[in-house]
Amino acid sequence: MGPPQKQPVLPRFEPFEQLEAGEFLEADDRSIGGGGPVIVDCNWFQHFENVVDPWHVMVLHGSFSGTQFTETMLRAPQITFETTARGVKVTSLRALDDGSVFRRVTEACVPTWRVVPNPRVGQYARVESIGFVLPIDDTHFRIYTVARVREPGELAGFRSRQGGKLWSELTPEEHRRFPGDYEAQKSQGDITWHSHENLATSDRGIALLRRLVLAQVQVVTEGGDPAGVSFEPADELVSFEAGNFRDPA
Ligand SMILES: [Fe+2]
Repeated sequence: MGPPQKQPVLPRFEPFEQLEAGEFLEADDRSIGGGGPVIVDCNWFQHFENVVDPWHVMVLHGSFSGTQFTETMLRAPQITFETTARGVKVTSLRALDDGSVFRRVTEACVPTWRVVPNPRVGQYARVESIGFVLPIDDTHFRIYTVARVREPGELAGFRSRQGGKLWSELTPEEHRRFPGDYEAQKSQGDITWHSHENLATSDRGIALLRRLVLAQVQVVTEGGDPAGVSFEPADELVSFEAGNFRDPA
């Protein structure tokens, strides 16, 4: 893909190189975060946009299908959307009972990285995993995930469950009654028609991400280097702002 003289160096990721005591890395190839089959049968961008859609957390994961994450995640957040050097960042603030603030930051970074802290909020910490979304063709993709963990098998525990069951173990009736990310994304079609959409202010992250990706396509068309590409091995680690944090009252 592309001319050999334009081959970028592989990035080094801060979340995987700065380990806390007792942490090690695990990898998973079963599309964690996709909420559906291992090979997801719709366009990858429908998933990528989901990373910067914080409102669906309350609506889909907290209302339609019961509580799929934690009670705290159901509280209505204060949300800000920002474009960064390599993607779009969403900050969701939620007031906690003790007066402190739960600050959750997620990032969608080009080319295809989902930088999403664990939605079950097992700990307050910088992001523990990165999902590398691999578009297979226009209507199929798969997600490869690497995470810092403390127990063998911990990363597999990040997989979506409904009533204790994995997506593949649910009946068709359960898929209908308890939709998750996969049902929401796939039911829009194999490739969504953007011309049929009515984006609202709550979709600001999606609009920013589309603009950012289109701008990178334009840069490449004109012979330039898109965001997120580096040619210098000595370049510093790729760092993210994503994480689940608790700010004192
Ligand atoms: Fe979701």
